[in-house]
Amino acid sequence: MRAAQTSLSSMELHNEQNEENETMSMKKTALALSMIALGTAALAHSGVTNKDVMARMMVMSTISDQMKLIGSMAKGEADFDAEAVNSALIEIAAQSAQIPSMFETKALDPKSEALPSIWTEFDSFTQRARETEAVAERLAGTVTGPDDLGPVLHQVGETCKSCHSTFRK
Ligand code: HEC
Repeated sequence: MRAAQTSLSSMELHNEQNEENETMSMKKTALALSMIALGTAALAHSGVTNKDVMARMMVMSTISDQMKLIGSMAKGEADFDAEAVNSALIEIAAQSAQIPSMFETKALDPKSEALPSIWTEFDSFTQRARETEAVAERLAGTVTGPDDLGPVLHQVGETCKSCHSTFRK
C-alpha cells in the first residue's frame, strides 16, 4: 500500500516535470516573441491573455518550482540542504494561502486548465488549498536529513493531486 502510494506521488511529480518541459519551450517561444515585440513580462505563459488566469498560473508555477527543488534533492541531483527545503515548504504554504483569492474571480482563458466546477464548489476548492497550506506548514522545519524528502514530497504531492484530480482538466 505504502509502495503504491509512493509511486502515485512520484507520478504526480513526473507530470509536473512534463509540464515544466512544456513551460520551458513556451518560455523559449515567448522569449523570442518578446524580443521581437521589445519585451513584455509574459515569458512563462505566452498564450494566456487573461491577467487573472496568468496570475493564478504563476502562483502554481512558483509552488511547482518549490516541489522541483525538493525533488531534485530527493533524486540526488542536488545536494541536500535542510534550510532550502524548509524555506521551500514555507513558500508552498504562503503561495497556497493565496490560491482561493487567486481563483475567486471566474476568469477564463482558452489556455486555462481550470474546470468550471471550481466556481460551483468553491468551498470544496478552498478546502483543498487549505490542506496544501496546512501540510506544507506542518512539515516546514521538520526536515533534517535526505530520508525526510520522500515522505515530504509524498504528503504535499497528495494534496496537489487531490485538487488537480477534481478541479483541473
Ligand atoms: C485548490 C486546488 C489546487 C491545489 C491545492 C494545487 N493546485 Fe495546481 N492547479 C490548480 C488549477 C485549477 C490549475 C489550472 C489553472 C489554470 O489553468 O487556469 C492548476 C495548475 C497547476 C500547474 C500548471 C500551471 C501553469 O503554468 O499552467 C502546476 C505546475 C501546478 N498546478 C502545480 C501544483 C502543485 C505542485 C501543487 C501542490 C504543491 C498544486 N498545484 C496545488 C489547482 C490546484
